[in-house]
Parts: sequence; structure tokens; C-alpha cells
Amino acid sequence: MTNTVVAVDGPAGSGKSSVSKAAAKRLGFAFLDTGAAYRALAWHVLDSNADPEQATEVISSLAGFDYAIGTDPDGYAVHVAGTDVTDSIREPRVSAAVSAVARVPEVRNHLTALFRSIIRDSDKAGIIVEGRDITTVVAPDATARILLTASEEARMSRRSAELVTESASDVAIALQKRDRADSRVVDFMTAADGVVTVDSTHLNFDETVDAVLDVIRTSQET
Ligand code: CDP
Repeated sequence: MTNTVVAVDGPAGSGKSSVSKAAAKRLGFAFLDTGAAYRALAWHVLDSNADPEQATEVISSLAGFDYAIGTDPDGYAVHVAGTDVTDSIREPRVSAAVSAVARVPEVRNHLTALFRSIIRDSDKAGIIVEGRDITTVVAPDATARILLTASEEARMSRRSAELVTESASDVAIALQKRDRADSRVVDFMTAADGVVTVDSTHLNFDETVDAVLDVIRTSQET
């Protein structure tokens, strides 16, 4: 039974995944990347030759979605029906399909229930869960609730530095398109009541991890 639940939300390129993973390592906590589950479902929809834009086809794919993700920040891997999809879920074709899959209410309900059971079953002292709706929907009662933001410019340049095989302008266009589609479903750009905003625009990686750790420590004291 996990004691401390840390919810981290934010847009693409804000550093949510890498910062949350590093903070989890420092604290000896588990780590859950919820975006990986939405990506894995999008991968599965494409792999089944279903149309991600058709909600009925996406809902049908949900029935055969055999998903497994680790919560160890040191050795995290994503599997769909035994196939390791850790790298393939980052491919541009999956990024382009994921928002359509994530806007289907049945998908969100199914995955939210899955995330809650992973949080409940974690046996570490705490778990850091990151995504778009963790502070508001998945774990609104979390010990610490953080919105990790950064200016659009900073987010684009970080993401294009990560995706070296694509041009910076392709990455920026794809990211803006995905942010626009995602923000129609979940508001991850403004902090809900009680959520602490950490703006990483002018912070380097280590400073951002420290800022997140500070919020977690403060929340554990109160
Ligand atoms: O890392 P990045 O911000 O690029 O995206 P991600 O966290 O891997 O999430 C991929 C996609 O999953 C997002 O673009 C959303 O469409 C969806 N998602 C969501 O709807 N709710 C979440 N809690 C997490 C991700």
C-alpha cells in the first residue's frame, strides 16, 4: 500500500516524464507514465488496422488491449500482449494518432481505473504519477499535486532536441497540433485549486527536479 501519491500534470515537452522519473529515483518511489498507456493503446489500434479517428473502432480495440507497464523508474518497459513497445510508442505515427484515441470517454474511464489499481498495488513508500489529468481526475486526493509548465518556445526546443531524427519545424508543428487537440479534452495548462505550478522555462533539468522535490517535501510536512 503506497503512502505518498504525487500527481504531476503538464503539456508535452514540459519535462514531466524525465523530471518525474528522476524525482522518483531520488525518493525511492515508484513511477507511472500514464501517457505511455494512451500511446500503447494508439499503437495497438494501428497494429490492429483499426481507424484511430473512429471511436467505435477504438472502443472495440480496448477489449483486446493486453497492457503491462513497469513502475520501477530504473527499468521501465511497456508491453502490449507480450510485445515490447517501449520504443515504438514514441514513433511519430503513434504521436499523431494518440489524441484521437485519448478523447474517447470509454478509453479514459478504462485507463483511469487501470492507473488507480496500479497506484493502489504499488508497494513502494510512494509513487509519482504523471500525465494530463492526474491532479484533477486520476488522483485528485494526491499528497502533492503539481503542474509542470514551460513556455511554448522552451517546450518545442526541448522536444526537438530529443527527437533528433525529425526536423525541428516538423516536431513543433506536430506538438502544437497535439496540444491543441488534447486541451479540448483536459485542461492541463491551468492549475486546478490546490495544485502547485512549477514553471521550468528558466530552470535546467536538475533545478526542475529540485523544485519538484521541494513541493513534495512541503506537502509531506503538512
Ligand atoms: O510526453 P508527451 O507529453 O509527449 O506525451 P505523453 O505524456 O506521452 O502523452 C501522450 C498522449 O496521451 C497525450 O498527447 C494525450 O493525448 C494522452 N494523455 C492523456 O490524454 N491523459 C493522460 N493522463 C496522459 C496522456
